[in-house]
Amino acid sequence: MSLNLKSLAVSINDRPVVKDVSLSLDPGEVVALVGASGSGKSLTASALTGSLPGSARASGYLEVQGQGVLLATRIRPGVAAVRQDSLTALHPLVRIDRQLIPVLLRSGAAAIRAAAATRAASMLEEVGFADPRSVLRSFPMELSGGQRQRVCIVQALACRAAFLIADEPTTALDVVSQQLVLAALRRAAEAGAGILLITHDVAAAATLCSRAVVIDNGTVLDHGSFSHLAGSSAHVDARALMESARHSVARGRTATA
Ligand SMILES: Nc1ncnc2c1ncn2[C@@H]1O[C@H](COP(=O)(O)OP(=O)(O)OP(=O)(O)O)[C@@H](O)[C@H]1O
Ligand SMILES: [Mg+2]
Repeated sequence: MSLNLKSLAVSINDRPVVKDVSLSLDPGEVVALVGASGSGKSLTASALTGSLPGSARASGYLEVQGQGVLLATRIRPGVAAVRQDSLTALHPLVRIDRQLIPVLLRSGAAAIRAAAATRAASMLEEVGFADPRSVLRSFPMELSGGQRQRVCIVQALACRAAFLIADEPTTALDVVSQQLVLAALRRAAEAGAGILLITHDVAAAATLCSRAVVIDNGTVLDHGSFSHLAGSSAHVDARALMESARHSVARGRTATA
């Protein structure tokens, strides 16, 4: 039972920002959504997760596990989100344990509070926290941006949703943490989750994703396997975008090395 988005269009204050985006996700599949900054990736993610801004008007058709979903609603059974902005994704006045434990209890990942706390700590450890118990006692503002981002990933994984929409889940992370997060996403996919991975890191995406959807200016340019998108049969702009993303991330890595 898959997730299908057809002909998504989003306008904000009468300005069309997403014009025609269609994509699908099967259980256990990781698909990359790639495109330049401002191309409409996060708004597509927001439409999928029911978090479009109030000023947005959306049209199109979304079906999750055989059920049609109204784009205007905020309810998305079976879909969890890692938002690009980790500061607003977490409640600023609530300690991390109180933001993770209820999610683990609700999803059935743990039956009682003590087991949920242990599970939360081990999930935090898996994404690179050496002292997860102190993270659980912290408020979001006491964590760095990269630490908050990893907490958001744990929170989304804790939902055990059929589909996970991950909007740049590794951007604020060092290379070691990036690898841990990608490994956690891979395990979730192996356990059956369908994952949409929004990223500028085409090289990392190619290691995890079976295929990619390339968007530009709110429209899908091309989609398919990474070898198709690198080859002569790909849309020429999609191929150029994939190529430049690969190089800009490689340059960034060199600059921060
Ligand atoms: N809340 C908003 N109000 C007005 N315009 C918005 C809003 N959110 C996004 N936009 C506009 O919609 C377009 C697409 O934005 P979006 O955030 O989806 O880009 P993106 O592909 O995720 O970019 P990035 O790679 O920088 O995260 C941009 O032109 C942006 O200015
Ligand atoms: Mg974005």
